[in-house]
Amino acid sequence: MTEDLLHQTVLLHEAVTALKVIEDGCYVDGTFGRGGHSRQILKKLGSDGCLIAIDKDVRAVEQGERLAAEDSRFSIRQGSFLQVAELIGHEDGIDGLLLDLGVSSPQLDDASRGFSFMKAGPLDMRMDDTSGQSAADWIHEAEEGEIARVLKEYGEERFARRIARAIVGVRSESEITDTLQLAGIISAAIPRHEKHKHPATRSFQAIRIHINRELEELESMLQVAVGLLKQGGRLVVISFHSLEDRLVKRFMKAQALGERLPAGLPVQYEQTNAALKLIGKPIFPTKQEVEFNPRSRSAVMRVAEKL
Ligand SMILES: C[S@@+](CC[C@H](N)C(=O)[O-])C[C@H]1O[C@@H](n2cnc3c(N)ncnc32)[C@H](O)[C@@H]1O
Repeated sequence: MTEDLLHQTVLLHEAVTALKVIEDGCYVDGTFGRGGHSRQILKKLGSDGCLIAIDKDVRAVEQGERLAAEDSRFSIRQGSFLQVAELIGHEDGIDGLLLDLGVSSPQLDDASRGFSFMKAGPLDMRMDDTSGQSAADWIHEAEEGEIARVLKEYGEERFARRIARAIVGVRSESEITDTLQLAGIISAAIPRHEKHKHPATRSFQAIRIHINRELEELESMLQVAVGLLKQGGRLVVISFHSLEDRLVKRFMKAQALGERLPAGLPVQYEQTNAALKLIGKPIFPTKQEVEFNPRSRSAVMRVAEKL
């Protein structure tokens, strides 16, 4: 059962410090998970402060509801990044937004969620398993070219075509419904295995990103977030793979540059329509954090402030 599974929060103090919490401010934790960051934000808020959390996973939301019952400054809503504006409905604007992207350990460690290529389970991979298409349904229906595109684009898998061909070959004989079955097909289709990396790592990442529309939802969330933040409000984003981080980096940079004007024009910074100011350099977990929590090893945190 999921509730015994814990999530070790990544960059806990770094992320909450970067939010620059003010006592009576109103903040959004867009990725509640098991509430590690939320609890730390609540420690910094005064009695008039507020924290609204969002998660698309119903099990995460159940945990958040327990916290809400104990602390009236906190509330949680179930939904995706695409619905953030309606979910928080805070017309006066918010003082900060934190996104700790990707999946939580309880999602990965619960075999019945189908995220892990190491544990036998139904091929599901939906963060919100009450709606949308499961990985098994997609694998069953997608055309070979579409499977290859997803594996290449979201997993940077060089053997994407071979794997897609193998999947289509197997599924014409029997349904692919199980994580280990899919991992085995992928493994057998790859001629050379990378050292210290399970051969199904890239493909599972790719399918997960596709099924959960992770990049599209992130892009939409970032666009809306800029409009929700008050002047001086902070946007703090922790990413776990290069596609996500590239998107965050480009977005923040573009918002910090504002409209592109021809070089050499005598324009003041305030006249460029820039919406964000970049704060510091990207932050990575310390060696100690990675030793203690190996899942933090690929994390990178970027921070920006609303102008
Ligand atoms: C890495 S975990 C967050 C962990 C959390 N910071 C903690 O300390 O417990 C990411 C969470 O965000 C949720 N999530 C990811 N993408 C989402 C999206 N597009 N919309 C809503 N929730 C999302 C996942 O369901 C997961 O519970």
